[in-house]
Amino acid sequence: MSLEAIRYRRGSLEILNQLLLPQQSLYEAVGSVRQGWEAIRSMKVRGAPAIAIIGCLSLAVELHNKTTTEESVDNLETFVLDSLSYLVSARPTAVNMAQAAQELGRIVRQEAKREGSTVESLREKVICWAEAMLDQDLKDNRSIGDHGALHLLQQVGQDKVIVLTHCNTGSLATAGYGTALGVIRSLHTMGCLEHVYCTETRPYNQGARLTAYELVYEEIPATLIADSMVSMAMKEKKISAVIVGADRVVANGDTANKVGTYQLAIAAKHHGIPFYVAAPSTSCDLSLEHGGQIIIEERPSQELTDINGVRVAAPGIGVWNPAFDVTPHDLITGGIVTELGVFAPTELLAALTRRANKV
Ligand code: MRU
Repeated sequence: MSLEAIRYRRGSLEILNQLLLPQQSLYEAVGSVRQGWEAIRSMKVRGAPAIAIIGCLSLAVELHNKTTTEESVDNLETFVLDSLSYLVSARPTAVNMAQAAQELGRIVRQEAKREGSTVESLREKVICWAEAMLDQDLKDNRSIGDHGALHLLQQVGQDKVIVLTHCNTGSLATAGYGTALGVIRSLHTMGCLEHVYCTETRPYNQGARLTAYELVYEEIPATLIADSMVSMAMKEKKISAVIVGADRVVANGDTANKVGTYQLAIAAKHHGIPFYVAAPSTSCDLSLEHGGQIIIEERPSQELTDINGVRVAAPGIGVWNPAFDVTPHDLITGGIVTELGVFAPTELLAALTRRANKV
């Protein structure tokens, strides 16, 4: 069975605490919006799609368990809209929670205005929407996996491929299956994956702690490398393609992802290796024209100076710790893999606009 990072049934939400992995698998209850915000901020749960899913489900659980006696539709509408803004504030770079807040906010305003709407109908709308999001993300990831695997095999013209990935984009970062790791999973299922190299992903080690854990768990043949080894790996390890996830893909295809992605893309271009980004359309932000407009989250200095609470950096040194960087679209040479198919970065805007106009 694939790794279960989120346990949800109506009125109850548990997350696998990713700060404790791989040493301990501990599920923790998230019963309120405040607990959801804290789990996201502290990175007990992380990864762009998972941040939005846990945010929205924490709201669904709080609403389900809230006593209703003195509530009005107006009060509930205000509570939901305030909760959504609060959840968006937990981490700024991944766009998924902001997109979810916008969409759910629109639905809540509409329902509150509807003649005959009640506290119960409003509550039910929010809960059903959050639950649907969990199911949709899993479906989208399976499509991403299959589109990406087929495109990559065709592009490189090999029966078996060796891929390199960065950060964690698997079951732990999504509702399940994963995005970039979903493509890797699909390649493996198709019998077309020879090997995966995963980077340790300093400073927070999502690759060494989480991706390595998922790859071992799924029995996918894999090797861990330090971030500083990627150019050498590309030169010596017959890497067929690089595939990473995304926290925000903007209109021109520029992509924010875990810090270190940009240098991977530069090295891939130098070595003539296709570079892919895999992301659901919920990670795309067409309101921004280019990557320079993306807010990059800066994380506490201890994530860089300490490992597992032990200081390794010299005391007194200054620290810069941006959690993400932006890869310019012209370095995304393989394509952007979404649930709708694989697009050149310059085709993405038109593809997503076509879909939006159909809905
Ligand atoms: O800081 P994190 O661990 O939340 O960063 C995660 C990433 O950068 C992932 O690559 C991205 O969110 C894609 S997850 C499917």
